[in-house]
Amino acid sequence: MQLSNNEKNRLLTKYGEWAIVTGASSGIGLELATQLADAGLNLILHARNVEKLQEVAQQLSANRTIDIKIVASDVSENEGIDKIIQSAQGLNIGLLVVSAGYGTSGLFIDGSIHSEINMLKVNCEALLSLTHYFSQQFAQQKRGGIILMSSMVAFQGTPYSANYAATKAYVQTLAEALAVELKPYGVDVLAAAPGPVATGFSQRANMHMSMSLKPSEIGVPILKALGRKTTVLPGLLTKILVYSLRTVPRWAKIRIMEKVMGGMTAHQRK
Ligand SMILES: NC(=O)c1ccc[n+]([C@@H]2O[C@H](COP(=O)([O-])OP(=O)(O)OC[C@H]3O[C@@H](n4cnc5c(N)ncnc54)[C@H](OP(=O)(O)O)[C@@H]3O)[C@@H](O)[C@H]2O)c1
Repeated sequence: MQLSNNEKNRLLTKYGEWAIVTGASSGIGLELATQLADAGLNLILHARNVEKLQEVAQQLSANRTIDIKIVASDVSENEGIDKIIQSAQGLNIGLLVVSAGYGTSGLFIDGSIHSEINMLKVNCEALLSLTHYFSQQFAQQKRGGIILMSSMVAFQGTPYSANYAATKAYVQTLAEALAVELKPYGVDVLAAAPGPVATGFSQRANMHMSMSLKPSEIGVPILKALGRKTTVLPGLLTKILVYSLRTVPRWAKIRIMEKVMGGMTAHQRK
């Protein structure tokens, strides 16, 4: 899926010159970075793995006249967050995309508390710090955009991925409120809440996804929704999954998610 020329112009004019994309080495972050490069925005690409980032930077700069900086850091550590902020000094940043994140799955009592806390730091604490810093900058300059990666699991408790779903509920709730608070300052905030997407996510989360979207099916809908909506459910599969549960009471949604996630994690209990 490609952005129209009108959309590319809108993104460049409203959110250029530079965009920061965390988690840009893979999956959804990589797709969003690629679409933003097509729109002509300069990019700060962030993830932990420097070799992957160099590869992505090389691919994205081929045949394009954009500037690209890479920042390799682990955002579960404060220094990792500071490194991203330092890399942005002196640049005209108009867009922050926070896609660095991961999931865990299985019975909560079987998991390691260290990896659950680490996920909380990456998915929530780092996202909060970056969002706070750049929303202050954007409010001062009276323009900007912030895209935060939520998930369809954000809308109800999700057994067998309890803490991951809770991190996404945090992101969703934060984004919804900031969209209202920051609007008078000319800053657009978007929660992107996809269903299953085939990326590096399922392997790291140890989940088996039977149906999934491709990153290329959700990048354009997410960018088109920025400045127009507060929450986007990108891709047809996401819409079907979320809308089919819309009229179901919350307790029943949780039981349905128990079955769905139970199927995705059943291999762990064999
Ligand atoms: N895939 C799905 O089904 C799905 C659905 C809904 C929402 N989401 C959300 O979408 C976001 C992107 O996930 P994805 O599906 O694109 O997964 P992915 O392919 O695994 O990409 C995750 C990205 O985050 C980076 N990252 C992970 N841990 C990091 C850390 N501690 N510090 C810095 N960077 C880190 C990874 O690079 P390095 O490993 O090099 O650090 C990678 O670039 C996540 O927030 C995820 O929760 C995914």
